[in-house]
Amino acid sequence: GAMLQTSGFARKLRLLDVTSSTQEAARLLAEEGAAEGTLVIAEEQTGGRGRQGRMWFSPPHKGVWMSLLLRPRRPLAFAPQLTLLTAVAVCRAIRKVSGADAGIKWPNDILIGGKKVCGILIESAGEDEMIKYCIAGIGIDVNLEPEDIPAELRSVATSLKIESGRHIDRAELIAAVMNELEQLYKLHEEEGFAPIRLLWEALSVTLGRRVTVWGGRGDISGVAKSLDESGALVLQDEHGSDVKIFSGDVQLG
Ligand code: BTN
Repeated sequence: GAMLQTSGFARKLRLLDVTSSTQEAARLLAEEGAAEGTLVIAEEQTGGRGRQGRMWFSPPHKGVWMSLLLRPRRPLAFAPQLTLLTAVAVCRAIRKVSGADAGIKWPNDILIGGKKVCGILIESAGEDEMIKYCIAGIGIDVNLEPEDIPAELRSVATSLKIESGRHIDRAELIAAVMNELEQLYKLHEEEGFAPIRLLWEALSVTLGRRVTVWGGRGDISGVAKSLDESGALVLQDEHGSDVKIFSGDVQLG
């Protein structure tokens, strides 16, 4: 299987049996001055958190629940790009290791066959408009069986095992995610967002589709056209005008 080929990412590891949320464990390490690339992994989370204040179901041994500490020397406005970059890295790793035809729903859900297999939560701490640190939380439903998925989620959630028909080695998957993530992070430092944007667009299952966005300004519907240079989603509304979406939840169709 794949091996860890990074110089910094995941070279400092904190493995936890049970924790409330790896985001909190990583935040404490960040506040204590832990180095960029420090990775916290838990077998089980009792208070796993999702985007928009949702819960993240994190049963023992069958998933990858992890949080990576990043310290980009960038303005806070860079955080959305980091979100998209992380989605590209995880999507590429999932495709490599499981062979499944995974795609990205804006901004950063990973879907297989229309069902969610991974969620990403990026939390940033700032100081004077600059990022102090970011915590990239990644939750992947790896070896969950259909009966491990709560009944009310079965129509919208799946696992790599269900989709690929085989058991997936979690250590191999984690190494692949870290390899991809460090490579793209360096690419972004050297060449900016443009190459990441192209990679994101190529893996997107959102572009070209009619979508509804549930955001702060109420619902907006339109056809998803592209990402702009900052990472916002560009929709064409029913009047033919472009509308930029900076955050929110997207429903396809
Ligand atoms: C979402 O899709 O809403 C984001 C889900 C993020 C889940 C991961 S699991 C590891 C890390 N710890 C958490 O509590 N959440 C993230």
